[in-house]
Amino acid sequence: MIEAHELSKEFRDRKRGLVRAVDGVSFTCRPGRIFGLLGANGAGKTTTLRMLATLLTPTGGRALVAGHDVASEPEKVRAKIGFMSNSTALYGRLTAREMIEYFGRLHGMDGAALRARVDTLIGELGISEFARGRCDRLSTGQKQRVSIARAIVHQPEVVIFDEPTNGLDVMTSRTITGFIHRCRAEGRTVIFSSHIMSEVERLCDEIAVVHDGRIVAHGTMDELRAKTGRTQLESVFLALVGEPEEVAS
Ligand SMILES: Nc1ncnc2c1ncn2[C@@H]1O[C@H](COP(=O)(O)OP(=O)(O)OP(=O)(O)O)[C@@H](O)[C@H]1O
Ligand SMILES: [Mg+2]
Repeated sequence: MIEAHELSKEFRDRKRGLVRAVDGVSFTCRPGRIFGLLGANGAGKTTTLRMLATLLTPTGGRALVAGHDVASEPEKVRAKIGFMSNSTALYGRLTAREMIEYFGRLHGMDGAALRARVDTLIGELGISEFARGRCDRLSTGQKQRVSIARAIVHQPEVVIFDEPTNGLDVMTSRTITGFIHRCRAEGRTVIFSSHIMSEVERLCDEIAVVHDGRIVAHGTMDELRAKTGRTQLESVFLALVGEPEEVAS
């Protein structure tokens, strides 16, 4: 479970001054449900997820992840989450398999149990073909699969994915969205960010639309449609973030 209460993050930027990247967001993500943060570039998605993953300290509000406060109990939170973002680094010299095993050991796993877990992930995420390939020689999509495996090798209760399908082809995206569904079926709490409306609609039980650091709407896709009186995904989104639909030519 994830509970964010008035969570905020301000950055002091030398050129821009005070940047309110996340400005008092509150939401709850429940086990066995997929929660989507939908927003345009710069909306505050990554900043929000990085606070939940304890990689950034909130400047206001609080968040509880799996029952622990992200600011005061970051180690406890880290043991219970799997976080994956586009900046998740892989060690170039390790093979895909070694990389996943290495992170399993960091989480205290070893022996047959670790091997079995790594085999399962390699199967579920379609890594077999390149499991023996060095990470620095993998393609973007292959790296993404390994990053996900690495993030969830310890079977975390809470899964936090920042734009998990960014830059991936249709087949790889499907592997990853299938995997996210499996996490839900296993009862995990899943939150992910995206700027792709169709993906969010397909995957999420609940959607929070983020704009300028705030949640401007929250609900199922059908609820968001009802709220805006529009059906086309793009029009729903544009209406919620207050952008005009017509582009002057
Ligand atoms: N370290 C930082 N210092 C100053 N400003 C920052 C910092 N990190 C993020 N920001 C600003 O905070 C705002 C939110 O950024 P964030 O990365 O959370 O957006 P995002 O929704 O993930 O966007 P994208 O879809 O492009 O990934 C942006 O205006 C960004 O420039
Ligand atoms: Mg981002």
